[in-house]
Formats: sequence, C-alpha cells, structure tokens
Amino acid sequence: MAKVTFRSSDGSEAVVGLDTPMSIMRAAVTHNVAGIVGECGGNAMCATCHVYVREEFLDRLPEIEDEEEEMLDGVTAPRSHRSRLSCQLVLDDALDGIVVDIPEAQ
Ligand code: FES
Repeated sequence: MAKVTFRSSDGSEAVVGLDTPMSIMRAAVTHNVAGIVGECGGNAMCATCHVYVREEFLDRLPEIEDEEEEMLDGVTAPRSHRSRLSCQLVLDDALDGIVVDIPEAQ
C-alpha cells in the first residue's frame, strides 16, 4: 500500500492509503480531501489539482511535460519550484509516503 499525506493551509492533515496505483488528484477526490478539485478529470486542462510537493520528494517525481508546464503557469495560488499538478503524479511504491501541501486557492 502506498500512502500520501495532504496538508491544508490551515494545518489540518489527511493521510490516504491506496492498494493500486492512482493519481494523487484522484486519491484526494475519492477520499473527499478538501482543496483539490480535479475539474477536468485529470487531463491537465484545469489546474484545479495544484499542490506543493515537499522538498524531499521532488527528485522522485516524473519530469514536467509540456501540458503540465503550461497549466502551472496559470495556477491561482503562487507557483513555486514545488508546484505540480497532482493529476500528473501517480501514487505508487516509488512515491510511497509523499507529502503535499494544498494551496489556499485553486
Ligand atoms: S485535474 Fe485538471 S489539471 Fe489536474
């Protein structure tokens, strides 16, 4: 089982565990984690799944593809070097234990 921890801007935390690989956006939506919308269903077309990945996990992430790069330029909350679209990050054994911060706005 792989786990992801979602930390909200108010300091609250939700830990979600999954038996099968799934995007971090889908994990959040399926488990009703507030602050991740996933409006486009994971097609890198809405940027409502923006998260800030904790520094220590950045080197485990896949490269940012062109579509994600474009959408990250339009996120509502400030973009940082930790910004990713959670629909493009598949939670599997390689990302087990990942911690992401949810922006104040999507
Ligand atoms: S769910 Fe729309 S960009 Fe990620």
